[in-house]
Amino acid sequence: MLRPGALAKLRRLFQHHSFWAANRSCAELRQMLRGSDVAVTAWHGSQLVGFGRATSDGIFRAVLWDVVVDGAYQGRGLGRQIVEGLLERPCLRRVERIYLMTTNSSGFYQQLGFDQIESQLLMMKQTSG
Ligand SMILES: CC(C)(COP(=O)(O)OP(=O)(O)OC[C@H]1O[C@@H](n2cnc3c(N)ncnc32)[C@H](O)[C@@H]1OP(=O)(O)O)[C@@H](O)C(=O)NCCC(=O)NCCS
Repeated sequence: MLRPGALAKLRRLFQHHSFWAANRSCAELRQMLRGSDVAVTAWHGSQLVGFGRATSDGIFRAVLWDVVVDGAYQGRGLGRQIVEGLLERPCLRRVERIYLMTTNSSGFYQQLGFDQIESQLLMMKQTSG
């Protein structure tokens, strides 16, 4: 899913440009990618400047995860391209509902057609970390 050597670059991207994924090791990231159905990356030369991934059953439900753009490259349309790239993939294209969780980027996702849901609660069981 990622070119050889790219795991360390993904780790750096998360370390510097996300708050929720800043401490993930390369081994954990490898497992994360194995457990994902699709990932999209954005590169500037050999620099990994953007990432997003999704899990999906291909028909009813999918979730977008870990959409991150390097701070120096934000505001240039990369985030939009990453999300649209994920949504166009065969495993997401015909899914009935696509979910995501965001702390501070709801405006970004609203521009991409996502709605804030008031009728449902997000529930979580923290098992480690
Ligand atoms: C959120 C993020 C992925 C957006 O990526 P980006 O490349 O800066 O976004 P884009 O340039 O593609 O923006 C697309 C549109 O969304 C808007 N937008 C971007 N971030 C926004 C935000 N936080 N709130 C409201 N609108 C936003 C842009 O103005 C742009 O609008 P336009 O098409 O009218 O010009 C990026 O800012 C990021 O990585 N942030 C840090 C990590 C993070 O919080 N990720 C979200 C995890 S849920």
